[in-house]
Amino acid sequence: MARLVVKGGRPLEGKVAVRGAKNSALPLLAASILAGEAVTLHRIPRLDDIAVMLDILRSLGLGVATETSPYGLTVHIVPGLTDYRVPAPLTRRMRSSILVMGALLAKGGQVRIAYPGGCVIGSRPIDLHLNGLRKLGAQVTEEGGTITAAAPRLRGAHIHLDVPSVGATENLMMAAVLAQGATVIGNAAREPEIVDLQIFLNRLGARVRGAGTGTIRIDGVERLGGGRHEVIPDRIEAATYMVAAAISRGDVEITGVIPQHLDAVTAKLREVGVTVTTGDHWVRVRCPRRPRAVDLTTLPYPGYPTDAQNQFLALMCTAEGTSVINETIYEQRLKIAGELRKMGARIHTDGRVAVVRGVPSLTGAPVQASDDLRGAASLVLAGLGAQGTTVVEGAQFIDRGYQDFEGVLKKLGAEVYRLKPEKVDSLSNPGTARHPGAG
Ligand code: EPZ
Repeated sequence: MARLVVKGGRPLEGKVAVRGAKNSALPLLAASILAGEAVTLHRIPRLDDIAVMLDILRSLGLGVATETSPYGLTVHIVPGLTDYRVPAPLTRRMRSSILVMGALLAKGGQVRIAYPGGCVIGSRPIDLHLNGLRKLGAQVTEEGGTITAAAPRLRGAHIHLDVPSVGATENLMMAAVLAQGATVIGNAAREPEIVDLQIFLNRLGARVRGAGTGTIRIDGVERLGGGRHEVIPDRIEAATYMVAAAISRGDVEITGVIPQHLDAVTAKLREVGVTVTTGDHWVRVRCPRRPRAVDLTTLPYPGYPTDAQNQFLALMCTAEGTSVINETIYEQRLKIAGELRKMGARIHTDGRVAVVRGVPSLTGAPVQASDDLRGAASLVLAGLGAQGTTVVEGAQFIDRGYQDFEGVLKKLGAEVYRLKPEKVDSLSNPGTARHPGAG
């Protein structure tokens, strides 16, 4: 278990550039299965989840090569589908492996994948994915924890999603691009990552319209070619650093963003009294004083994103007043409340709702992250604003979604470093923990 040691009380100051969006890169990599010629993707973030997806593509027979650039990875993919079975160990490591189902069915006519199961934030069912694929004509069976689906050729259909599921929208878009006839996805997710996927698919020769709205129409084509694409910036990484600036009472400029993707987060931070200014590709966050307590409800895009909810929860712990946080997307995404209480937070949770009574300051403590990368990152944020030292156990979860998290925070002036596992004896006195860079 990796540990991050955070010494609080230092306002973050300076500039940080965000990378390509993890939650766009993953569906784009899955969509590369559909290409009939070579594909190049730029600004792919260097993350554990990305490495898993690249291994899945290789295991299916695609040729995958990567180059490192200052902006992340450039990934070259050449067609070569030779298998339809997704290795179970890889599916277990990353739920989003389910995103290859639609592309494999469309391109190769079959797929076999282990049931991804739930995770710490909720059951995360995939019924909308499977029922949508059935509507497109796939025979889908689930037995013994394995899903098998087959279709000689998918046929266009009208699908209406019970909830605007991001993954189901993406999976069904990918399944429909090579189907016979037209497909309409109603109550589709509107996230910017869906728009990014539409742009990429159309660059390959697909005919997709309506991404970003609740209704997406796909006219099936015979085959797709190849092409190049640059992943959109990561709005959740940006939101995380915006809150880091606020929680540390600092002044940080986050560059390389698309500001309108951050509208809900910007509006909420302004509501609590944080100063947020925006330019064409940057946002600047200043928080000279204690924020006001404000309620929050997470919603599908363009509402406030669930992936930035724990960060806001951490910020409200030291706000002036009481705030009510309502997590409507996942049934268990308030788990860090227990860890924040160890730092002196006054939080009462009941299911999807947390009531936070702000205290003047938190106090550093040893806390345990669970396998929700946003919650893990949010515990580090809480440590940034706390008095004293916080040791976050389970920092490896952060690596799933944030590239060099502690390096970025250090660059902004934070006193944070990763404690090597063998240094466990120094845990009792974190202050004596040898800084890895201390030689
Ligand atoms: C995507 O997950 C993101 N992951 C998640 O980010 C994000 O939290 C989520 O969208 C919501 O914005 C990626 O894009 C890789 P959903 P996804 O299907 O697609 C229910 C992170 O931290 N649902 O939109 O799995 C489900 O239970 C991750 O980066 C069904 O009921 O999310 C949930 O309540 C965490 N049946 C709601 O929809 C289904 O078949 C939203 O889930 C599918 C989903």
